[in-house]
Amino acid sequence: MSSTRKRLFIKTYGCQMNVYDSERMKDVLTPLGYESSETPEGSDLVILNTCHIREKAAEKVYSELGRLRPLKEARLESGDQMTIAVAGCVAQAEGAEIMKRAPVVDLVVGPQTYHKLPELIARAARAKGEALDTEFVVEDKFDKLPAARQVDGYSAFVTVQEGCDKFCTFCVVPYTRGAEWSRPVDQLVAEIRGLAAMGVREVTLLGQNVNAYHGEPPAGREADGPWGLAQLLRHLALIGGIDRLRYTTSHPRDMGDDLIAAHRDEEKLMPYLHLPIQVGSDKILKAMNRQHTYAEYVDLIGRVRDARPDIAISGDFIVGFPGERDEDFEATMKCVREIGYATAYSFKYSRRPGTPGAAMVNQVDEGVKGERLQALKLLLDDQQTAFNQAQTGQTLPVLFEKAGRLEGQLHGRSPYLQSVHVQGPAELIGQIGHVAIESVTRNALTGSLVLPATVDS
Ligand code: SAH
Ligand code: SF4
Ligand code: F3S
Repeated sequence: MSSTRKRLFIKTYGCQMNVYDSERMKDVLTPLGYESSETPEGSDLVILNTCHIREKAAEKVYSELGRLRPLKEARLESGDQMTIAVAGCVAQAEGAEIMKRAPVVDLVVGPQTYHKLPELIARAARAKGEALDTEFVVEDKFDKLPAARQVDGYSAFVTVQEGCDKFCTFCVVPYTRGAEWSRPVDQLVAEIRGLAAMGVREVTLLGQNVNAYHGEPPAGREADGPWGLAQLLRHLALIGGIDRLRYTTSHPRDMGDDLIAAHRDEEKLMPYLHLPIQVGSDKILKAMNRQHTYAEYVDLIGRVRDARPDIAISGDFIVGFPGERDEDFEATMKCVREIGYATAYSFKYSRRPGTPGAAMVNQVDEGVKGERLQALKLLLDDQQTAFNQAQTGQTLPVLFEKAGRLEGQLHGRSPYLQSVHVQGPAELIGQIGHVAIESVTRNALTGSLVLPATVDS
């Protein structure tokens, strides 16, 4: 292995699973002498870890590649190299097409093969065109990645499940991430113990469909058969040093009673649930192949709230799916009013090549989509502000993650994932302390420390 120092710039698009993958790419490349850089200028290797979920996300990659071209040319003129790699879901979906459309790209690597980056970089240096790997063997990736992770900070992501078998008719994920697959429990315990040893206090378990987790049980428990997410969470809660557990994203169909019960009685499991419904109309739910009705979702949220009354519910919404009439959109607005979301993401339907939705004849006019999105966003913003306002006067345990923007300020997260700002000493970073909430905005809470400053030291 080379010990020459090289500069690596990674730009990450898309979901938290890409954030996790980017961190792991750094772990793979560090032994080769790569050090992280904040900018692409002067980098030996630039990786764009891309997202294909909506057209805008995918197109961003090509505009970024356009910006990188002069940088690469400038380096070549001064006798240096700049290897440009496209990774992630656009790489998986478009493969070699990327190099045709953007010849500046040296290599393309899919989400399941980035552990082979060292080999691909070497191959790209030899001959153009060979450096493409978009195979689909997830097991291989997790076996071959370095055991040790470098993390900075106190909250870490861990991918526990990959891929999706749901085939919602609007979505590219089953095509870009492949079939649903879960990592073995022991492998996750080892990774999370390692994170705890580095000072990590909070772990968010990631999966496109994380509550469909069904991993190989730990050694000695083979008779159990595959473990579900609830069992995994209860087991991880036993790891010393890890005080907070979260998971995302869940599908309503896979929200079992055992997981709901874990929200009732597992103290380390934070009271926050991202459970998207997408739309409120049964007709559109069916056309989207979501495999449940509106009434089933409402009943499910009711049971979750019975188990954990203060739980923050978050969601995703799509407006303008093919065939959505005004009354269907009204059903989405009614859903939001009825459920009450702490926070939510909302998107205009984007026609993704290769998905069933793209071929549907009754596409909705872009202007109509825009109007619907605006109305929905206003309602969701109001709900987020109201959810935050309800915390005024409360005292919340906050995990302080880093210094805030202002002098002497700390930034942390409440159990409900809200940003919290407070004046306090830097020694509290990495600790959980109590904060009396005094004022709120839509995006953050502000308060003062309640003494004694920490709940755990
Ligand atoms: N697995 C998750 C979602 C993953 S994608 C789930 O089942 O809920 C994240 C979000 O992007 C989706 O929830 C959806 O709201 C949005 N999205 C996915 N495909 C889209 C498309 N074609 N157009 C617009 N939004 C889309
Ligand atoms: Fe996409 Fe549906 Fe799978 Fe979520 S459940 S990743 S929306 S296909
Ligand atoms: Fe995007 Fe791929 Fe994630 S399409 S949302 S980066 S799984």
